Amino acid sequence: MKIEFTEGKASALTFIWPDDWHTHVRDLEVMKAVVPITAKLFRRAVIMPNLVPAVSNLNMLKAYEERVLTAALLYPDFQPIMTLAITPKTTPADIKMCRRAGIRAAKLYPAHATTNSKEGVAHIRSLAPIFCEMEGVEMILLLHGETLRFPNGNRVSPFKKETVFVQTELPWILENFPKLKVVLEHITTAEAAELVLSNKYPNLAATITPHHLIYDVCDLFEGGFQSAFFCLPVLKDTSDKEALRRAATSGHPRIFIGTDSAPHSLAKKTDPCGCAAGVFVGSAALSMYVQVFDEMNALENLESFLSFNGPRFYGMAMNDNFIRLVRKPWRAEPPMRISGEGEFWQFGHRPGENMSQEFEWTMESKLAA
Ligand code: DOR
Ligand code: ZN
Repeated sequence: MKIEFTEGKASALTFIWPDDWHTHVRDLEVMKAVVPITAKLFRRAVIMPNLVPAVSNLNMLKAYEERVLTAALLYPDFQPIMTLAITPKTTPADIKMCRRAGIRAAKLYPAHATTNSKEGVAHIRSLAPIFCEMEGVEMILLLHGETLRFPNGNRVSPFKKETVFVQTELPWILENFPKLKVVLEHITTAEAAELVLSNKYPNLAATITPHHLIYDVCDLFEGGFQSAFFCLPVLKDTSDKEALRRAATSGHPRIFIGTDSAPHSLAKKTDPCGCAAGVFVGSAALSMYVQVFDEMNALENLESFLSFNGPRFYGMAMNDNFIRLVRKPWRAEPPMRISGEGEFWQFGHRPGENMSQEFEWTMESKLAA
């Protein structure tokens, strides 16, 4: 990575194009609007399969991939990395067939854990034959790591769901399937960060979102419930955020970018009968990550987190092109109006307010190899 300085302060960064190892681009009209936002910043992106119905077989995956590629026509370098949704109906044969067709990863949502997860799995231990097959064919397991209920049926607090998962189901998976590569997605707690950093499980990696590195539960409730910040797993304590910031900027090889950019219409984000979970970080993502590494005096580890660690864990080649960011206030994008779907606000947009001063870095250009 090349860092340019002006008056002793970093002013421009040039490094290998990053990828996004966790994003939601939805489908149809929303997808057409959202895919270019991702393709503008990232060379590759891992596309989550939580559509309705879930993308749970090879035919659905192939058709979805085609639609995503069509939405990215103006970005011929962009490569979606498709993921299979694991449901209670998934069979080892499905895994084998998808892997043979080049699918690298499958996503497990606990049933009802989050947006569009009702086809998820209630009893994770019933998936032993699936995990066994994945281990054999070298398919990566992507986990939404939250436990919703204790064995006695009592509900787990939203602030403890990830910690319970990290202490119960996660070790069960890792210890029974030691060769299975696992990504604990969008970690939000000190417990999860410390488990990865401890290197107890060499096949365990984690992604971290930009919003969990900058905000915490205090922001979620500052001046009233802030629906723009509501996502799952929910923002945690300041001490958790600090642990995530240390982990992300540590240079650890199995911790990497995954924006979890998750568009929802304004109507769904402000529904009085239930706010949709998901932060549409969109075009703010890179500015937010760079801000964190800059604040933590860890710019030397930025490129590993954004551009090296993800492909290495997925067994893919590193990108060979470059991106340049400059220290220049980032500007929030105006709302998008999507036909038949209403208004979508990308992160940072608030009427009458300009959050652009909050993030100091802006992408200037992408450069060929
Ligand atoms: O906040 C979230 N939104 N968490 C998820 O796991 C899913 C995502 C979505 O699809 O909107
Ligand atoms: Zn997600």
